[in-house]
Amino acid sequence: MKNVIAIDGPGGAGKSTIAKLLAERLNYIHLDTGAMYRALTLAAIKNNIDFDQKNKLVKLAKSIDITFDENGEIFLNGENVTEEIRTAEVNSHVSQIALIKGVREILVEKQQQLAQNNMVVMDGRDITTVVLPEAEYKFFLTASLEERAKRRYQEIKSKDNEAYFEKIKKSIARRDKLDSERKHSPLKKAEDAILVDTTNLSIDQVLDQMITIIEGDSK
Ligand code: DC
Repeated sequence: MKNVIAIDGPGGAGKSTIAKLLAERLNYIHLDTGAMYRALTLAAIKNNIDFDQKNKLVKLAKSIDITFDENGEIFLNGENVTEEIRTAEVNSHVSQIALIKGVREILVEKQQQLAQNNMVVMDGRDITTVVLPEAEYKFFLTASLEERAKRRYQEIKSKDNEAYFEKIKKSIARRDKLDSERKHSPLKKAEDAILVDTTNLSIDQVLDQMITIIEGDSK
């Protein structure tokens, strides 16, 4: 699948930041699939749907409209929810929604359609393994739990002084566990994905490594 780049990895590994910058450099569209699971979680909260009511959640996934604009901002039924999908409440429920097979089928289909019609950098948990296994380039970005917690802490601390490092670390570890041990499309590295450990690398260094691989191939 030419002109399609797939990136997976755990939360806080830098996927979305890197995917966005990579898309800018290549003039591709960036699609953050985690944002789609988050938008659905937000819709469930707004509609007072319990997170154990699987059928209702699948129905909701079918009925809502999730779109992106050219800047990567995300819209739920036409409303810009880019900020709202990052709240602690959404954080604490999104992995539960992502466990549901029917929900995944609907979102995966949307993601595959988007990749058919665009030049994309798509990031998530199952992009290299399930959504776009035929992508031209596949990367698995990771970093130590400590480093990922540090990054989230820095990000949140700037908005919320009461963010505590240990609490964040625990929450990331909990999501890692749910994402990688779930039955349907668990987070795992595709055998042929290129592993990039970002623990001791700056954003620019990660980007350079990836661009070198991509541009090296086209020479
Ligand atoms: O990358 P993120 O933190 O925004 O992802 C939010 C949640 O969505 C995360 O717990 C795992 C889930 N997710 C998924 O299951 N599959 C994807 N392709 C993307 C995200």
